[in-house]
Amino acid sequence: MTMNVLFAASELFPLIKTGGLADVAHSLPNALAQLDIDMRLVLPAYRQVLSGISGLRVLGWVKASTGREVRILEGSHPELTIPIWLVDAPELFDRPGNPYTDAGGNDWPDNPVRFALFSQVAASLAMDALGLGWRADVVHANDWQTGLVPAYLATESAPPRTLFTVHNLAYDCQFDFPVFQGLQLPSYWWSLEYGEFYGRFSMLKAGIIFCDRITTVSPRYAQEIRTTELGYAYADVLEANAGKLVGILNGIDDVTWDPRTDPHLAARYHVNGKIRDAKRANRETLLKALGAPEAACEQRGPLVGSVGRLVYQKGIDLLLDAIPALLDDSDAQFVIIGSGETKLEQQLTKLALAWPDRLFCHIGYSETLAHQLEAACDIFAMPSRYEPCGLNQMYSLRYGTPPVVRETGGLADTVEDAKPRSLARGEANGFVFREASGAALGEALRRAFALHAKPKQWMKLIKTGMRGDYGWRNSAQAYLQLYRAE
Ligand code: ADP
Ligand code: GLC
Repeated sequence: MTMNVLFAASELFPLIKTGGLADVAHSLPNALAQLDIDMRLVLPAYRQVLSGISGLRVLGWVKASTGREVRILEGSHPELTIPIWLVDAPELFDRPGNPYTDAGGNDWPDNPVRFALFSQVAASLAMDALGLGWRADVVHANDWQTGLVPAYLATESAPPRTLFTVHNLAYDCQFDFPVFQGLQLPSYWWSLEYGEFYGRFSMLKAGIIFCDRITTVSPRYAQEIRTTELGYAYADVLEANAGKLVGILNGIDDVTWDPRTDPHLAARYHVNGKIRDAKRANRETLLKALGAPEAACEQRGPLVGSVGRLVYQKGIDLLLDAIPALLDDSDAQFVIIGSGETKLEQQLTKLALAWPDRLFCHIGYSETLAHQLEAACDIFAMPSRYEPCGLNQMYSLRYGTPPVVRETGGLADTVEDAKPRSLARGEANGFVFREASGAALGEALRRAFALHAKPKQWMKLIKTGMRGDYGWRNSAQAYLQLYRAE
């Protein structure tokens, strides 16, 4: 029998994205829809989303407990095979920029109001508050923004089954008692047994406590968050709920990220084709796009790339630490694309100015450059301090760009270090290091450069990565089993 699943998320590629959550909210529901699941996706009607969606029609109005009336819209997008429901509360979501912060990067002060409302409305839609004849059997909520979805559903009689996926435990929304009262949340939720958390209320904790199953985006991260090192203050709550916690590795959208068909590339390629020639052409295009001088475009040393949010999590400071010595004692070039903390952006820009023919950067967000970088580079650096899953290392593997990663979370679950034995067995696909330091990263990059200088072995490494399966098939099946309560 077809199962009805409502997927609630606060980002959705290609409409609105700050990180990998948007990619997952796009590709996982698409994969689930192939498995005889009748999916609906619910998202806040941000300004950017309203302008990117087609065929909008009004489904009806839902009244929240605070008395606010919210319009529900349905629309579609050519890249998504499922209907998208939008929670249209213009005073909360019709704002410029990022879903969570203002242009200056400060959290919107009314985030508790915005996402409590979104969660409550999503829960009502799951219960068919609009009388559409579609009621969810399962609701899949994601991160703190939807933490109250399982909580609201727990107040219903015969609620759908709920899954709560933790994409990144370091992000949360907590508020004080007066805000809790203003939101008119059930008073028993303010207790240690439920959502109270060190004197405040945590939307993330509420999700963890009230859901039927918790998932994280890699098996390793599911272990790590039960320790205080990466579970922070939540480690105890997660340990106490370990019986319902499981790690399922993210997949990637292997249609959008396919070097054989990628429209962003100057030269497309496949595993049995002329990878080296294509990379050469893509390298020239990328470096020119980044304003590199002619002579720099002709250099032949390994090209190391990195794409991501420039924040502590991603260990970009480790890369900035390692680069000067590597520039001195190798012929490598570097290209970095990202935006984030001002201090890191400034350090990166300064280093690039000091090495105009060896280090190139783009401060900002560019989907096109991210694709070009994956195809142009020889090596991808991802020295994350922690990484719940990480998508870029999988994009890199697919694009024949062996990743150099720190042994953490999904990076540890997807990258097999190039050691003599793993290489001989055709299992190695990248380089893994442990210590979170510029020196350890530098050493791993040097190992990569040494292997890069041995074309036959390097090609074997590349091909192992390119032949891997990073799609959603297996993981979508794993979610289906959880949906079915198996
Ligand atoms: P996270 O969600 O922690 O940021 P992931 O690796 O899961 O990390 O996903 C990040 C996604 O965002 C990837 O699709 C990556 O390509 C993209 N991304 C991050 N920063 C940029 C940028 N500056 N330009 C283009 N894409 C970016
Ligand atoms: C988070 C994590 C990242 C993960 C993504 C999608 O943003 O930081 O590791 O890949 O969510 O699940």
